[in-house]
Amino acid sequence: MDVSNPVWASPIEFLQTVNPENPVMFFAPKALQARTQQFLKGFPGLVTYAVKANPDISVLQSLVSHGITGFDVASPEEIQLMRSLAPEAALHYHNPVRARSEIEFAQRMGVKSYSVDSRSELAKLAEILDPEGVEISVRFALPVDGASYNFGAKFGAIPAAAADLLREVARLGFITSMTFHPGTQCTDAEAWHKYILAAADIAANAGVKIERLNVGGGFPSQRSNEAGDLDEIFGVIDQATTEAFGDNRPALVCEPGRALVADAFALSVGIKAIRDGADVFLNDGIYGGLSEQHLIGLTQRLLAVHPDGTLVAGEGVPHRLFGPTCDSMDMMPGVTHLPAELAEGDYIIFYSLGAYSTATATRFNGFGDLQLATVHTL
Ligand SMILES: Cc1ncc(COP(=O)(O)O)c(C=O)c1O
Repeated sequence: MDVSNPVWASPIEFLQTVNPENPVMFFAPKALQARTQQFLKGFPGLVTYAVKANPDISVLQSLVSHGITGFDVASPEEIQLMRSLAPEAALHYHNPVRARSEIEFAQRMGVKSYSVDSRSELAKLAEILDPEGVEISVRFALPVDGASYNFGAKFGAIPAAAADLLREVARLGFITSMTFHPGTQCTDAEAWHKYILAAADIAANAGVKIERLNVGGGFPSQRSNEAGDLDEIFGVIDQATTEAFGDNRPALVCEPGRALVADAFALSVGIKAIRDGADVFLNDGIYGGLSEQHLIGLTQRLLAVHPDGTLVAGEGVPHRLFGPTCDSMDMMPGVTHLPAELAEGDYIIFYSLGAYSTATATRFNGFGDLQLATVHTL
């Protein structure tokens, strides 16, 4: 991301000064620093960052310079990127399925932590890697509520299979650990509680002491009114680990993506048209910066602004919101209440948009030319 200068006071100052034609992604570095400190001070273990959420160089550099020393990487490209920016950082290759060439690449780059959820992938790792000093975390999944969508549908062994895998990891001589991901934007601390109790059961059934337990991923950003308090979730994780493991308490690791970066960004989009007074057409949509909104619901934090920077007034009126492409899927879920005086040419600022937005945006249909701006506050 080429963050343009100067640093603006706020998105509204930018909008009223520049009146941009294109969508604009606003980055508030101070918000990112504050959230980084909250994790480093509050989480009772090692904080790593899931690079996939937002691999922007300015984000990664900020995280490194403010004390993040570990990264969850999903691919050779992410490994290379992190090695170039933070050569000493711990890299956890926690995409549980990899090509042999990808494992060989990670090995050459000195990656020492991997996750698995199947015997076939464990066998592949064991063929390629020398177990000395290498950690393998068994990823398991439970049918647990609380997240915006279910991550267990693709990855994670059921508990019985996880116990078998853990035994096999120990037999092969790797450092034994476990991991889970409760699902992204998980607002219920109880999900972590259940997962941690299950991790202890699985380890006990396997007869294996685990060195570390990685609790995901999944921490909520402030995109919803039910997001809850991160410090409360950290407290539940700490207590549940002692409750579940007692004297065998493993070291804890977390690998947030969304919760570290999302709230440090906001996206402004322009209103292209209000079709017959009803449907609102935006200049960005699901193929751009609003890519995951149709999957996890539209962020509940938004603000409508006139080009002169004043707030749009009036009672909330329900509208359907559409993106600019010709694809019928390019629409926001449900209806959104927007102030009655909203007009063509106004802007909507969507908050908490720093994760899975610029990372997945495309130029489909020739739209999505995203401008970038740095702000003091969002
Ligand atoms: C292995 C792993 N860890 C962490 C994350 C980050 O999850 P979140 O952004 O919900 O914190 C992901 C997201 O896909 C993941 O696959």
